[in-house]
Amino acid sequence: MINLAMDFEDQITRLLEKMTTAEKIGQLVQFGSFRELEEGLVDAGEIGSLLNFCGSTQVTEIQTRIMRSKCPVPLLIGDDVIHGYKTGFPIPLAESCSFDLECMEETAAIAAREAACDGVNMIFAPMVDVARDPRWGRVAEGAGEDPWYGAQVAAARVRGFQRNDWEDKPHVTACPKHYVGYAASEGGRDYSYTEISGRTLREVYLPPFEAAIKAGAGAVMSAFNDVSGDPASLSHHLLEEILRDELGFRGLVVSDWESVEQGVAHGVAENTREAVKKGLTAGVEIDMNSGIYREELPKLVADGEITAEQLDRAVRRVLRVKFALGLFAQYESPESRKAAVHRCPEHVRTARKMARESIVLLENRDGLLPLSRQAKKIAVIGPLADAPGQMLGCWQCKTDKDNVVTLLQGIREACPDAEIRYEKGCPLPFEEDQSGEIDPAVELARQSEIVLLALGEPCGFCGENASRARLDLPDPQMELLRRVCEANPRTVLILMNGRPLALTRVREVAGTILEAWYLGDECGHALADVLFGDYNPSGKLTMTFPRSVGQIPLYYNHRNSGRPELIRYIDEEITPLYPFGYGLSYSKFVYQGLTLSRTALRPGETLTAAVTLRNESGRGGEEVVQLYLRDPVASVTRPVRELKGFQKIFLASGEEKTVEFTIGEEMLAFPGADGKPAAEPGEFQVFAGTDSSCTLCASFRLEQQS
Ligand code: NOJ
Repeated sequence: MINLAMDFEDQITRLLEKMTTAEKIGQLVQFGSFRELEEGLVDAGEIGSLLNFCGSTQVTEIQTRIMRSKCPVPLLIGDDVIHGYKTGFPIPLAESCSFDLECMEETAAIAAREAACDGVNMIFAPMVDVARDPRWGRVAEGAGEDPWYGAQVAAARVRGFQRNDWEDKPHVTACPKHYVGYAASEGGRDYSYTEISGRTLREVYLPPFEAAIKAGAGAVMSAFNDVSGDPASLSHHLLEEILRDELGFRGLVVSDWESVEQGVAHGVAENTREAVKKGLTAGVEIDMNSGIYREELPKLVADGEITAEQLDRAVRRVLRVKFALGLFAQYESPESRKAAVHRCPEHVRTARKMARESIVLLENRDGLLPLSRQAKKIAVIGPLADAPGQMLGCWQCKTDKDNVVTLLQGIREACPDAEIRYEKGCPLPFEEDQSGEIDPAVELARQSEIVLLALGEPCGFCGENASRARLDLPDPQMELLRRVCEANPRTVLILMNGRPLALTRVREVAGTILEAWYLGDECGHALADVLFGDYNPSGKLTMTFPRSVGQIPLYYNHRNSGRPELIRYIDEEITPLYPFGYGLSYSKFVYQGLTLSRTALRPGETLTAAVTLRNESGRGGEEVVQLYLRDPVASVTRPVRELKGFQKIFLASGEEKTVEFTIGEEMLAFPGADGKPAAEPGEFQVFAGTDSSCTLCASFRLEQQS
């Protein structure tokens, strides 16, 4: 934990009194490289933070150097630790499909522990952007399309990153990003315009930030995007009025990479001077990388356009976080701790647990899965079946492809007595090595009892500035899939990708499909666990899978419209291919009888929704039981349903359990005209089941306040 509520104000005041204007401005400057200029600034005590700079020895040296300068204020050392530091975890979108908040908190805690051993004290994560457009490459970095679930994940990840469960200081702050609405970019084109109404902002994009702040996040990153004409990194309304005044944030705001300067390109500042003035007064305390605060602020302060109070307020916010992190304590090099922490067995075990829980079983039409270990001839085919670097996805941080267990390796380990042969089958797009022939792969498929076919996207197709206009498999992979499935129908398609794909054609050909995303270091082990039934898949999609790109944006919690029965495409179904919350299991779960403990709820009361679930199969398994609510008549239109609860439970073969959810008034609230959440009296519908298309329904009334 870091505690921003602690009172450091006197210490900060004393420090500020000793600082020159240049030193104060230095606290607001962050650079992403370390060359002559930055070295000079360290020695002069005129820089407050660095990114892309880590390593216990280097950080110890630089922290020691700055503490010997005229302005001995330790540096913030930021890094993009998105899904693991040394131990590679699944990409965040994959992790979110586990619906295992505890495990997500744990992977974040491990990542922070490992990063802290290299001197990192500020982690540019979690990405909490609610994402409804899979063309946007950065959906891989977040928790999917749902604001409520996104908020739960945001809080879990912040708690994990800031658990700081080591004795010595300094600690680590999380930095939820990108504030705000960055995922709404038009057409899924990264960095583009976002049109976001006040209502959508509060209903969709703010909840995960609010949750992250409540969980104690010490920093927030302001985004690149223009929010309805108001670029997020220069917006007083978004940063001061909403983030600070409304959400109560007390930490520091760091811009995204040069995003204050980009106010000029956006067209809200004539030059960098004006951009700096707007950025600082809007509430961006630290400018990432551009150097324009250092260049422009001295003049702006001298000319009185930025007042001493405004400058001090920004520096105070930065120093408060530095105090809360314990940065001023005697700097202990983490070097001695490193060997025991980096990729220690416990971390790798968690990576395997997280990876297997992240896998989503999309199809198992002929019950081919789980596989028997009796198979003697197994074919492993596909350009992603033995590509370790690809399994690390986007933002690979300090992970190492040499630590990755690929599908091929995992299967070899799991079946030491079987004959396992591998063919690449076709190359990946844009890969340097364009080897891979279809014919030998098809021949291998024909000769084998089982085929494991790994297809999908190269990992460069996801992450920052990796938008896609097509979401199907590239043609060579599609042809490989067709021919392999023709040669051997006992084919399991394993998809490795960073976003929902449009799988309509794929599903026509493949009857057994696992969505494996990019699973990180333990990919092959986790897949073997699932393929052979040592782990019964339990993952559920946190983003809707469309049938075709033309349906996008497509998300489950849309509004109803006035003519819902007429909405259609002439040339495509209206429904998604796989809805939010979808995922199969090797068990057969049957839901029954949704009941409510009362049919009228008075303000202040709660009611219990109970649903019975039976495992009608010979295999124990976990199920994510989902609860959705709908407010069918209100003063403004409301979504057709909204996820408001889930429980991941284990049921042994034949077991029956009643799962209970408590429903309170706050779960029924939505932002009113004043932006404040309130529930409106009237009927509410409750749905429970296995995914967002579930039909078990009950209803109750929220009574008027008497
Ligand atoms: C730009 C990205 O948008 C952001 O997510 C990241 O943290 C910074 N660059 C720093 O690398």
